[in-house]
Parts: sequence; structure tokens; C-alpha cells
Amino acid sequence: MKMSQGFQPSSIFSNTFRTVAVWLGLGVLAAALLWVTDAQAAAPGGQSRHINALRLQGTLEKLSEFGRNPEGGVTRLGFSQTEMDARTYVMSLMKDAGLEVRVDAAGNIFGRRAGTAQLPTLLFGSHIDSVPHGGNFDGTVGSLGAIEVMRALNDGHVTTRHPLEVVIWTNEEGPHFGISALGSGVAAGVLGPEILDRKDEEGLTLADWLRRYGQDPSHLTDARILRGALAAILELHIEQGPQLYETKVQIGVVQGIVGLKRWKCVATGFANHAGTTPMNRRKDALAAAAKDLLAVRDVVRAEPGRQVGTVGYMKAEPGAPNVIPGRVEFPVELRDLDAATIERMWEHVQQRFAQTDKEEGVETRCAVINDIAPALSDPSVQSVIREAARSAGLSTADMPSGAVHDAGEISRLAPMGMIFVPSRDGISHAPQEFSTWDDVANGTEVLYRSILKLDKQMNTR
Ligand code: GLV
Ligand code: MN
Ligand code: MN
Repeated sequence: MKMSQGFQPSSIFSNTFRTVAVWLGLGVLAAALLWVTDAQAAAPGGQSRHINALRLQGTLEKLSEFGRNPEGGVTRLGFSQTEMDARTYVMSLMKDAGLEVRVDAAGNIFGRRAGTAQLPTLLFGSHIDSVPHGGNFDGTVGSLGAIEVMRALNDGHVTTRHPLEVVIWTNEEGPHFGISALGSGVAAGVLGPEILDRKDEEGLTLADWLRRYGQDPSHLTDARILRGALAAILELHIEQGPQLYETKVQIGVVQGIVGLKRWKCVATGFANHAGTTPMNRRKDALAAAAKDLLAVRDVVRAEPGRQVGTVGYMKAEPGAPNVIPGRVEFPVELRDLDAATIERMWEHVQQRFAQTDKEEGVETRCAVINDIAPALSDPSVQSVIREAARSAGLSTADMPSGAVHDAGEISRLAPMGMIFVPSRDGISHAPQEFSTWDDVANGTEVLYRSILKLDKQMNTR
């Protein structure tokens, strides 16, 4: 028999078969839904999560569209149009969460949720700017994780004694102006109006950019946070190193954050003809800078420890294959948990630079462009984070941070703690930077629980 289109043969057998198939299908669908809900609601130890992992993932994916690069990751430099657009998106999320949003004179964004008592603020957040060709997780996890905590508190109709504030700090990375942790540095009172005249590659000053953020640069110091205004500062962040990933530990409890000192150096030689100038009559600034780079590495490696040193770029001028470079600009960056180690290494580096200058007939001058002191986490805040993680069924490890963070600057004003989640293969500041959504959700749940524990425990005023 020829069947017309859409005709279904009818028999007792096929009806029964269809009914069974429909029920089976519904069963599979229900099981899948249960699995998804469970994956979202439960931390690996089986404890339920208060935060909504899928909602958080959705906002992080949306934020990754601002400054997305074809090779993956983002370029969203602090003080750029791309970052301004991302800031608008993040402020809309804060408003949707019912937060009272304000921007301070340094461009830092705050979203406030009132408390039930007259107490100092519990502050938590991170940054949404990136390095050039950076990843999608550095700063963003702690920023949008903080907003997710606020949404979860709203969902659960949870009130707190302390007012809570989410903060998105301005220009944490700093490549655009050479100043890392700029917004938090101003808030902590370690940076002031002296930074306003600093120019970017296009000749625009920091003051010009603050005006674009709707701020009056002459009021920069209004962004200082008064001592006593904060009960504590917390920051959730990806580890950016391999320790948690390689040891399969879910949460890092940060003991302290390295200090960083950065210099801009200029080696001046003499630009001359690359074909006619004999090898023994050259003042090659790039040859000298190359020796200087290796000297930095030698000095840092000369003693045991976790100290690091980097020359991140070299700009040779005039920059032509047939001209001996007459001028080279390069930064030197040294980091360690101990400020005295940084100073000692710098002494040695300078001696080596002086020796190179003599050998190569050039002159090298360096000026400090960024100086961030090491910061220790507060032991009782560390305990709170550890307990919060354990209550969620998550494993923990204590560890130092080799990256600088805004929370370090604010630790000059209030007890500080940081929560780390694993970074795949320890990669960061690169498009391959990745943390699983489960790890991101774990860290955010620990932030949620830590805030509530601090709110209960803190004996302020
Ligand atoms: C910021 O990520 C830094 O450590 O440079
Ligand atoms: Mn960061
Ligand atoms: Mn970073």
C-alpha cells in the first residue's frame, strides 16, 4: 500500500509501542534535567550550592564578548573604549541585582547592598580589565562571582548585619599606563594626583581618561577609603599558576601576595649606519639592552627562593634593519614576598647595568614606575575561608600569590583574604587561560559562605 505523507499506520502494537516510547523519552528527559539541576546545585562533596552556577557562567560568557580576540581570550585594557563598554554591562548587572551603584573619582565601581546594623562594609570584588591578548578568567571570575553572591543572597532573602559591597577596581593590570592596581592603589592612599599627567601611547593622560569615565580628576583623592570604613576585603581569583591544578586541590587559601617593583629603563647609544660602522666603533643600545635582560635573569636566579624578574618588552629606535639602534626602552619588573629581597636584587641589577654600559659605550637610566608592597592575608580571614570551603565539601591548600591583586592594596586598610581556584596547566595572561565552570562555581560558593561567616563572626566596633 502506498502511504500518503503524514499517514501513520494504526494498530494496537504501534499504539502501545508509541506510548512506551513517549514514557521512555520523558523518563530520559527528566533524568537529564535532574542531572543538570544537580550539577548546578551541588558542590563535589555533595553539599548544595547557594549560588547559581549556570547564571554565573552566562554572565561570564557575555563579558568575554567585550574585546574578544580571534585566537580566543580578550584584549580589554584598563582605560580603553572596550573596557568602558564592559563596565556599562557590569553596572547593568549590578543594578539588576538591586545594588546601589556608584563610581568613585578613580573610576572604581561599587554596588552596595544595605545591612541591618550600623557596621563597616564587607567589600569583595576584582577587576575586568585584561593584559593585551589575555584570558577570560583573570579578574572576571572574582568580579562576576561577587555579583552572583549578591544575587544568591537576594534569592534566599538573606539579610546581613554588615552592608555588603561589590567592587570592580580600575586598571588592575596596568599595561596601558604602566601602573598595576591603580584604582585600589588610589583607594588605599598609596597613589595620588602625581599619576594624573602620565600619558598613554596616543598622548592621552590618565586625567583625560578619568574624564571619559565621568569623573573630575582634580577630586582623585576623594576615592581614598577611610580607615575603619571596611570590615574586611575579600577577592576571589584564579590561581594563575599550576599548584592547585597539579595537586587536584579545589580551593587555594592565600597567605600573602607578592610585592612588585617596576622600572622603565632607557639605554641610549648612537644610531649609525649598519653597513659602514665597524663592529668596534658601535654604540649599540639594543646589544646593551639584550645584555641587561640576561643580567636581570642571572641576578634573580642567583639566590634560592620564589623571587622572579622579567623584562616584558623592548622598543628599539629607530627600528630599521640597516640602522644600529640608538635608543631602547624596556621595563624591569621584580617580585617577591619580601620587599628587602626586591631591593637587594635591584642593587645587583644596577651594578650589572653599569658594567654593560661601560662595555657597550651606552648610558642606561631607569626610573621607578610602579611600586606595590607585599601584603599578608589576615590569619582569621584565612581560617574563615578554609572553614567555608570545608563546609562546602571542598579541599583546600594554603599558598602564596605570585600575581599582584587589588586586595593586597586594600589590606593596608582592612583585614584581607583571597580565594583561589585552579587554572588549567597553570596558564594565565594568555588566551589559553581556563578554569572549569565547576571550579568557578566552587570558588563563588566559598566566597558566598565566607561573606556570611564574616558577617556573623566579625566583632567590629
Ligand atoms: C597582575 O595580574 C599581575 O600580577 O601582573
Ligand atoms: Mn587579576
Ligand atoms: Mn592579571
